[in-house]
Amino acid sequence: MTTQQQTAGRVFSGAQPSGNMHLGNYLGAFKNWVRLQDNYECIYCVVDMHAITVWQDPAELQSQTREAAAAYMAAGVNPEQSILFNQSKVAGHAELAWIFNCVSRLGWLNRMTQFKDKAGKNKEKSSVGLYVYPNLMAADILLYKATHVPVGDDQKQHLELTRDIAQKFNTDFGKELFPLTEPIIMGEGARIMSLRDGSKKMSKSDPSEFSRINLNDDADTIAQKIRKARTDAEPLPATAEGLDSRPEAANLVGIYAALMDQSRDAVCAEFEGQGFAEFKKALTDVAAAKLAPITEEMARLQKDPGYIDSVLASGGERAAAIAAPILAEIKSTVGFL
Ligand code: AMP
Ligand code: TRP
Repeated sequence: MTTQQQTAGRVFSGAQPSGNMHLGNYLGAFKNWVRLQDNYECIYCVVDMHAITVWQDPAELQSQTREAAAAYMAAGVNPEQSILFNQSKVAGHAELAWIFNCVSRLGWLNRMTQFKDKAGKNKEKSSVGLYVYPNLMAADILLYKATHVPVGDDQKQHLELTRDIAQKFNTDFGKELFPLTEPIIMGEGARIMSLRDGSKKMSKSDPSEFSRINLNDDADTIAQKIRKARTDAEPLPATAEGLDSRPEAANLVGIYAALMDQSRDAVCAEFEGQGFAEFKKALTDVAAAKLAPITEEMARLQKDPGYIDSVLASGGERAAAIAAPILAEIKSTVGFL
């Protein structure tokens, strides 16, 4: 896809290279990114500037940036059809983020639940970057006037803020410059929870390796993690309604449903009355079968860092070419000479 006119719109999305890519990233994000490629002009970004809002070891940041790019491609992002790059390659993200720092309001940022979760009790010691993180995210999206953003459920609030920023900018400067971006939050994978605690989302930053399935876990590790996953003593119910107030059971059924592109009701109908020991075996088989090709392809790509770097470099050039006229229009609207 070369021009916006030929497609249903422009998609932008990203993930942070701040740790291992996991099943939540795959089911909540990458899997949907891949599906959108044929109908939208897609820009997929490894958001390294977001990652450094908390400390990252420089050497690890480099290898994790390559790992993230490998994960996108292994999941099915085609770097020729879509644009794949890392955020710090295109200076416009930082430039527009500064303008948005001056549009966005303290009161808006104070409501962001992700900052509260990440900063925890140590708010005073958090970086200022962590606080203004959502303004940079709005800049990522609006630098390309993206119309659609596929994300997991946890990013909904940040996308509402992106719309608020776009609307305030348009009103302040009396010009419909930015679109009001639509979130795309798809299916059963939108919120995958920790395997150890059904009330917490599966996350890169959870200290327990047993809380998540990483995209580079081998079949034995996946089997072990699913075997140890928390459940309850009840068998599977006849419908998904029977999973209410059973968060761990609901999560395992949700993972199976998302991997198989089925509804949770269909999974319950198939396994009704069976215990979780049985169901976990079926889930292990499905997870191992679906993830093995991705894990293998990631490993293959990571053996050739030169190739990954060349994809990111050419993606950066293509992204910068789209951003340049938009940034010029924004700067002249603001009154920069
Ligand atoms: P992050 O790993 O926080 O950079 O997230 C990258 C993408 O993966 C975003 O679209 C998130 O919404 C999505 N994501 C992260 N964790 C999960 C999860 N546990 N379940 C579903 N989607 C997730
Ligand atoms: N904040 C997102 C996350 O942690 C990552 C992200 C940064 C993003 N910029 C974006 C996602 C723009 C979608 C669009 O998951």
